[in-house]
Amino acid sequence: MKGIILAGGTGSRLHPLTIGVSKQLLPVYDKPMIYYPLATLMQGGIREVMVITAPEDADAFYRLLGDGTQWGMALDYAVQPAPTGIAESFLIAREFLDGEGCTLILGDNLFHGWGLSDLLQKTFVGATGATVFAQEVHDPERYGVVTFDEQGTATSIVEKPDQPGSNWAVTGLYAYDHRVVSYAESLRPSARGELEITAINQIYLDHGELNVSKFGRGMAWLDTGTFDSMVAASEFVRVLEQRQSTKIGCVEETAWRMGWISDDQLVALAQPLLKSGYGDFLVNLVS
Ligand code: G1P
Repeated sequence: MKGIILAGGTGSRLHPLTIGVSKQLLPVYDKPMIYYPLATLMQGGIREVMVITAPEDADAFYRLLGDGTQWGMALDYAVQPAPTGIAESFLIAREFLDGEGCTLILGDNLFHGWGLSDLLQKTFVGATGATVFAQEVHDPERYGVVTFDEQGTATSIVEKPDQPGSNWAVTGLYAYDHRVVSYAESLRPSARGELEITAINQIYLDHGELNVSKFGRGMAWLDTGTFDSMVAASEFVRVLEQRQSTKIGCVEETAWRMGWISDDQLVALAQPLLKSGYGDFLVNLVS
């Protein structure tokens, strides 16, 4: 399965931070934000990824991530000319997908938890229909919200409802079969002028093919849409990394653990990163 990271948008909820630099390049503690969703796709076994950015940020993303070969991956790039909706990703990536299904992750979503890699690999390998991941939150009105019947089957999915029917928010991680492109072609812009990802999910729900996987309390899902949530995400990463002597969202480590790069390649990647201490972490993995 192929992956898409949507890292477009104007980041207006974070102005002035995001006037000069893309939101998804801002730091979350010791890494650029986009490392976290990229590492999540990698943990799911996805090696071919398209990164979609705003036109003015494309060069900066390429400078950071390159063509992906350094991590045993293939990264493609495309631009979204204006922030006209998450579901536009599938139209932009049509040729890249070439008739395959895909996993989409939003470039500002951070996932961390035990068993995530296994869960993703199972989901991504077997995906027919669509799978979305939901988690209970205290402020569901900020998100796509899913409701369930007594058997736990999803019954509705609504984007940013004034009166949420549940506390279950749809996270920014979605797996779709190959039909997603034609479904995206059938969409019309919503009242806010966007091709809504929730409208795609609604189509799968109407076909009885929307699987909603609930994240339990052992899974951390953080987004970085406000000043406070950005600081919270950084603090979360800092506390866990320092306490456990590990790294979260470390793409170099993930590539190595997936067996996509050798020990020698990992040590070589560490060299330009030694002054910050990040490289020492990578070298120590091998020894
Ligand atoms: C988007 C989606 C929403 C989803 C959220 C997850 O919202 O439209 O359904 O719950 O991402 O982060 P946005 O970030 O565009 O407000």
